[in-house]
Amino acid sequence: MAQTSFELIARDGRARRGVIRTPRGEIRTPAFMPVGTAATVKGMMPESVAATGADILLGNTYHLMLRPGAERVARLGGLHTFMNWSGPILTDSGGFQVMSLAELRKLTEDGVTFRSHIDGSKHMLSPERSMEIQKLLGSDIVMAFDECPALPADRDRIAQSMRLSMRWAARSREAFGDRPGHMLFGIQQGGLEEDLRGESAEALKGIGFDGYAVGGLAVGEGQEAMFGCLDYAPGMLPEDRPRYLMGVGKPDDIVGAVKRGIDMMDCVLPSRSGRTGQAWTRRGQVNIKNARHADDPRPLDENCTCPACRGYSRAYLHHVFRAGEMISGMLLTWHNLHYYQELMAGMREAISDGRFEAFETEFHAMRAEGDI
Ligand code: GUN
Ligand code: ZN
Repeated sequence: MAQTSFELIARDGRARRGVIRTPRGEIRTPAFMPVGTAATVKGMMPESVAATGADILLGNTYHLMLRPGAERVARLGGLHTFMNWSGPILTDSGGFQVMSLAELRKLTEDGVTFRSHIDGSKHMLSPERSMEIQKLLGSDIVMAFDECPALPADRDRIAQSMRLSMRWAARSREAFGDRPGHMLFGIQQGGLEEDLRGESAEALKGIGFDGYAVGGLAVGEGQEAMFGCLDYAPGMLPEDRPRYLMGVGKPDDIVGAVKRGIDMMDCVLPSRSGRTGQAWTRRGQVNIKNARHADDPRPLDENCTCPACRGYSRAYLHHVFRAGEMISGMLLTWHNLHYYQELMAGMREAISDGRFEAFETEFHAMRAEGDI
């Protein structure tokens, strides 16, 4: 008994609607996963995150192994109990975060040693240790251990790194073993090189995973280059498994990725920008710091049903941001996550109705009008 499954419900062009079933609940795809790096989606209670429409959260091996420690989380009942989120959790495997955050990194065939960005303490991650940590956390969707160079990088560096990640993917598969109710996803690498993406996809398919991520994008290449890669990369992965684009993105990145056959995404943007006074609406980005909002009695978006828009004016949101009040980040984060989940729900409906193209046209038209 696998206890997990992926069912495709509808297709429109290359866009797909589906559902991932896990013992902890269903994930409606295309899905956006809010980021809960340190066992919290910053500024949000878990029930509020669920109320925005999120089915699944993302957690991070790297951060949680450093603080509070994976063994401690396990002793306290696992990540779901610890952070009071009963739905599915996907955890990233740590290698990518080590490369961007840790100090004194040393990469070998075996894995990576590094010093914590928090207190300088020494740590090690390998495919085997990453699988062990993600098991201790109780993650429902476990990511294979990988690494990826920042772009631009030369082709040789990208190829070597991808091949190392594929050897690590095989070791991740072996170390993960057979865990009914839990899924293991492989991660495709290869930069913007089509043949290397193909080689990576073949290696992953040979190993066999429950789902497949497109990694190594949104690392400085720009949207046009990313979409160029997404024109071929998802099609190299199995049709009947979920496809996850890691670390993406802005609303227009997300719409373009779904159009190209992506089923899952995650990004810190809606939560992080909420804390810096940036709101995302159907009409694009709104900077609540701007003085033009100081006397504006209207909500951020008159059509939004989130608590920030139902109960508060732009003038209030501007005031609490300027005053440095905690509720500022809380309200804007809630609005942003609500907007992202409405966008996903809208795309799922449009795919079912065979009108994704019209949805996309309307999405861009609204943004072109701009805020006001
Ligand atoms: N997050 C964003 N991109 C990546 C990637 O390529 N690999 C991993 N593990 N996490 C990511
Ligand atoms: Zn709102």
